[in-house]
Parts: sequence; structure tokens; C-alpha cells
Amino acid sequence: MSFVFNEENEKAYEALLPRYPHPKALVLPCLWMMQYQEGFISTRSMEFISKRLDVPVAHIYGVATFYTMFNLEAMPKYHIQVCKTLSCELCGKDEILKAIEEETGLRVNESNELFKLSQVECLGACGGAPMLQLNEDFHEHLSPASTKELLQGLAQ
Ligand code: FES
Repeated sequence: MSFVFNEENEKAYEALLPRYPHPKALVLPCLWMMQYQEGFISTRSMEFISKRLDVPVAHIYGVATFYTMFNLEAMPKYHIQVCKTLSCELCGKDEILKAIEEETGLRVNESNELFKLSQVECLGACGGAPMLQLNEDFHEHLSPASTKELLQGLAQ
């Protein structure tokens, strides 16, 4: 089955198109629309947007795989992204990761029916280290206890 934008995304696409000098510049907003629509970036949606924008599908794939916020596979309900860069590393990232592993039974890059656990580079909230991103929300100044409390609230 092929992919097409739903009505809302089609309207957004049509509104954005005249605002960009080259269709290639629309790749990022299209990737967001595709991810919101399907929950992840599928091969069929990349093929669709490649045709719409007249941009090689290899370019679409390159952009989608460069940014960690795009998911190329179906995701469970919660995506936990733990920052592993310097500030978070120095402020206790390893303890946060251990707390998550204990609470979920997952290791990095593993998933179950509720969670996927990833490590990512700096999320731009260094002043709140150690921190993680849960779906689209940032959780900062974490401790192992507050991290476990956060996850327990989600599992109920
Ligand atoms: S180092 Fe973790 S948010 Fe920047």
C-alpha cells in the first residue's frame, strides 16, 4: 500500500510549498509530517515525498537517518532518549541509564511493548543535566530515584 498525506498534512504541504525557494528545503517539514501521521518514517513515505519533491530517495533517507528525532521503525508508546554528551556524562548519566535499565529491563537500543531506550548526543539542555527526552518532553536535573518515579508513573 502506498503512502499519501492525510488531509491535514496535504494542506500544510500546499501552504509550505510556495515559501521555500527549492523543494529540497521541504524535506525536514515533510519528515515531521510523515512521522506524525504514521508514527515513524516508513520506506513508502520516503518514496512518496521523493516523488513529490523531485528529490532522490537516497537524500530523504540521508536526512532521516542523520537526525535522531526521526524513527525509521514503528515505535512503542514511549521513546526514552538519554543524553550521553559531556554535561550529562559528568553529572551522572550512567546512574540515570542504570536506573532506567533496572526499571524497564531494557538495554540501550532495545524496546518492549511500552518503551524504547536510546542514547543520543546533546539535546541542548546542558544546564539541566543529567536529562532525558521522553517522546517530546524534556526531563532535567534527574536523579536515579526521580527517573524511576517518572517511569513508574508511565507504566501504570
Ligand atoms: S550535554 Fe546533555 S543536554 Fe547537552
